[in-house]
Amino acid sequence: MEHTDIFKQAMQELAAVRTIQDLHAFEARYLGRKGLITMGLKGLKKLPPDQRKQRAIELNGLRKELESAIPKREAEVIRRQAQAQAENEHFDISMPGITNRAGHAHPLTLVQQEIMDVFERMGFYVMDYPEAESDFFNFEALNIPKDHPARDMQDTFFLEDGNLLRTHTSAGQVRAMMELKPPFAAIFPGRVYRYEATDASHDHTFDQVEGLMLDHRISVANMLYYMQTLLEAVLKRSMTVRLRPGYFPFVEPGFELDIQCMVCGGKGCPVCKYSGWVELMPCGLVHPNVIRAGKLDPAQWQGWAFGLGMSRMVMMRYEIDDIRLLTGGDLRFIEQF
Ligand code: PHE
Repeated sequence: MEHTDIFKQAMQELAAVRTIQDLHAFEARYLGRKGLITMGLKGLKKLPPDQRKQRAIELNGLRKELESAIPKREAEVIRRQAQAQAENEHFDISMPGITNRAGHAHPLTLVQQEIMDVFERMGFYVMDYPEAESDFFNFEALNIPKDHPARDMQDTFFLEDGNLLRTHTSAGQVRAMMELKPPFAAIFPGRVYRYEATDASHDHTFDQVEGLMLDHRISVANMLYYMQTLLEAVLKRSMTVRLRPGYFPFVEPGFELDIQCMVCGGKGCPVCKYSGWVELMPCGLVHPNVIRAGKLDPAQWQGWAFGLGMSRMVMMRYEIDDIRLLTGGDLRFIEQF
């Protein structure tokens, strides 16, 4: 190869390089350890002495040229590749963007907020009490004797530290009496836990709202008024209710407020266990022993209390036929609200 040819050829090859990989290969071919220039310089000895000098000048000149030409070419190749990529990508400015998926409140939260709203307007405090609770507030203070079936291992999740998961929001009753100065009215919504088998109408984890009012004179009629207001506000339709005697150690007298099952309209379904009625609000007048546990004098103070099964309320409201859906975390269910 004539010495002028190598220079021409190198420049032609360099101009034809289109990719970075090709450029690296080109660089190796000329400037690498076994490249044409390096080898050419090593081979000078074999040339006739009169050609050596000229050849050396040429090769060194080519090397200098390439050392500045290659980085320039590299920048150009990169720029062209980016340009080609940009031209091949179609960006349609009129396409709708990807919207963020916004969450929304869970049906339990929606109903709880409505209940809080209604009661706050009627002057009730909304209190928040612990889910991990002491035996005292969950049982002892509520006049639940040591051998009561509610304390049975089967109903309660006991914690290793001697506390337990509250089995009902009634655990807040005596806390409220100690915390709020009577006369007062309060509700305390929250999650409760029971160690029991689950079915369509029972879950080990569910939500209640406790209502509690303390004053000098309290009546069942007064309690009924608040319960009715609550039902109408949340269920937003007329319904048939019944009140029947019920036993709870912390109320006397105690009642169960049942509503006609709104899932089946009273015909019978898994939610109402085919009875047509759903227990929704156990209630009663606060037992004097409970008032005493709250460090108040039962001769001066009376109270009423109800425990609303909020999970059941949500089921009635939205006609949900399995309580386990509420905490199951299945988005196909939750997204319907
Ligand atoms: N705490 C009781 C339960 O969960 C319900 C209840 C509350 C009964 C208030 C009477 C008064 O079963």
